[in-house]
Amino acid sequence: MESVALMIDVTGIVGNSLIEILPLADTPGGPWKVYGVACRPRPNWNTDHPVDYIHCNISDPEDTKFELSPLTDVTHIFYVTWTNKATEIENCEANGAMFRNVLQVIIPVAPNLRHICLQTGSKHYVGPSDCGAAYMAAVDPNAKNEAFNINNGDVFRWKKLWKVLAEEFGIEEYGFDENGEKLSLVEMMKDKGGVWEEIVRKNQLQPTKLEEVAVWRFGDLVLGNMPVKEHGFLGFRNSEKSFASWIEKMKAHKIVP
Ligand SMILES: NC(=O)c1ccc[n+]([C@@H]2O[C@H](COP(=O)([O-])OP(=O)(O)OC[C@H]3O[C@@H](n4cnc5c(N)ncnc54)[C@H](OP(=O)(O)O)[C@@H]3O)[C@@H](O)[C@H]2O)c1
Repeated sequence: MESVALMIDVTGIVGNSLIEILPLADTPGGPWKVYGVACRPRPNWNTDHPVDYIHCNISDPEDTKFELSPLTDVTHIFYVTWTNKATEIENCEANGAMFRNVLQVIIPVAPNLRHICLQTGSKHYVGPSDCGAAYMAAVDPNAKNEAFNINNGDVFRWKKLWKVLAEEFGIEEYGFDENGEKLSLVEMMKDKGGVWEEIVRKNQLQPTKLEEVAVWRFGDLVLGNMPVKEHGFLGFRNSEKSFASWIEKMKAHKIVP
């Protein structure tokens, strides 16, 4: 039987990576047909892959029903989205509702649905990412009905990463002192909206606001507490190389200079 993925959301970091893998001819479990859902109209940096793009706001039950109920051939749902609200209670409510909206539409209409892969961060509002892990959980029969906690396992030091970032952007003097006060990206970036606008203008980047290209609170949470253990999935990514590779991709699409 053909594998038919419903990727929610396809413009996110995880979803956009998964759609690079799934439609390939030699991807196990395939060939995969992929429906990709996102809240915004399809951005030009997402158009390289053969995906049926569906513009839908999954926070809205009516819109979700209208857009997703025709997808009767879905076999796998990759739920790799989240929304960020001001409080933990609001996060739980908003993310739980989004997940329910999707399942309430797809489960009754898709008789061949056989796998739901739900990827969350360190907090499980609905109830770093390694797309290989999400994909492994979808095609390995031994992964059925299991929950995996995927941590990369390398030791993180701002001192090293700051150097990697500076090299990527061709900055020689970046003045970072790891022995100073604990680094807070939220604090550091709170008044930098104007600086970002200037960078966008000077480098003729895609027009974005600073808060659209980064979630500093999340950065502080994840990078300030880089986990050191991993369970369940044997894949490993070198964090420094991952940062560099993502920056290269974002440069290619003119999101960063
Ligand atoms: N990235 C990582 O390193 C990482 C690591 C571990 C776990 N995770 C988990 O994996 C999941 C996905 O993370 P991510 O980093 O890929 O997230 P992300 O880059 O922030 O993408 C989330 C996407 O969700 C979409 N979205 C938000 N509200 C929506 C709505 N109402 N309707 C439709 N789409 C909506 C947004 O798409 P639009 O473009 O349409 O606005 C956004 O692109 C999260 O649960 C995260 O905690 C991620």
